[in-house]
Amino acid sequence: MKVLVSDQISDLGVAKLRESVAVDVKTDLTPEELEQVIGEYDALVVRSSTKVTRKVLENAGRLKVVGRAGVGVDNIDVEAATERGVIVINAPEGNTISAAEHAIAMMTSLARNIPNASASMKAGEWKRSKFMGVELYNKTLGVVGMGRIGSEVIKRAQAMGMDILAYDPYISAERAEKMGVTLTSTEEIYRKADFITMHTPLTKATKHMISHDELAIMKDGVRIINCARGGLIDEEALYEALKSGKVAGAALDVFEEEPVTCNPLCELSNVIVTPHLGASTEEAQVNVAVQVAEQVVNALQGEPLVSA
Ligand code: NAD
Ligand code: MLT
Repeated sequence: MKVLVSDQISDLGVAKLRESVAVDVKTDLTPEELEQVIGEYDALVVRSSTKVTRKVLENAGRLKVVGRAGVGVDNIDVEAATERGVIVINAPEGNTISAAEHAIAMMTSLARNIPNASASMKAGEWKRSKFMGVELYNKTLGVVGMGRIGSEVIKRAQAMGMDILAYDPYISAERAEKMGVTLTSTEEIYRKADFITMHTPLTKATKHMISHDELAIMKDGVRIINCARGGLIDEEALYEALKSGKVAGAALDVFEEEPVTCNPLCELSNVIVTPHLGASTEEAQVNVAVQVAEQVVNALQGEPLVSA
């Protein structure tokens, strides 16, 4: 059995694979080069840079499994894989805490203007009144998507004294109640929340779930955090709402196009951006790499899989 690792993953994940199978690590393949070499492999392990397209899969005569060292499988054509009997697996839990901590860090940075204040002081200024912030205590946080990461964000926000309104059509009222959370509609969240944080996958149903109409009914001065997927928020609509001051600030880790260096949102002073760093901690990267390696080996050996 031969496995190709085509994105940077933790060495511990590669070592775990090598305990059972032969592994090639080739992280600088062009899409054309990947199409040429994929036929030699039984499994492919990716993070987010490699696009596992229909064309790649058409050239993958021996491929049995694609493993994604992370949660979202949006860089894999799952439909094409399924048609060819190729299993797609992910590592759904390894980066939950890191992503939740990043969302909280983005929310607190936004509330207290930390990136701008830091940049100003490093530029030789001492401007205390310019960077007046707001407290999180007693504020309402709207959580859209109450899965693994959304739930961890809720626990941390509750510890800071925030009131939570959550929307997730697939979570039971009982589970929400256990977490001390009121399940409600997106509309109520948009009308009442001081902060809104997004934690759903990107699907046909969630694409642009925040656009002009949703922004229009939000509280004036709302702050929005997105550490899930870029396409959940219509970036053009958000840009306008930030420009007009309707939205006081946004903290974005993810973008409609990635990688991106010249997104107009980056030019706005009330926007904080990070380059998709939610899962970029030492701990999360070891977790997801080892989890996906174990799963890929299980799949190749016909052992049971833990599904996402
Ligand atoms: P999860 O599957 O545990 O939770 C997602 C939740 O969204 C589920 O509870 C589901 O019921 C809910 N959901 C689905 N459709 C919905 C809809 N239309 N409206 C509201 N809720 C809906 O996933 P997770 O691990 O919590 O990940 C959440 C998101 O964060 C994913 O998009 C994932 O790819 C992304 N993520 C980003 C980073 C990063 O680096 N920024 C890291 C990890 C995960
Ligand atoms: C994920 O879906 O797990 C995240 O986007 C994290 C990542 O791969 O960087």
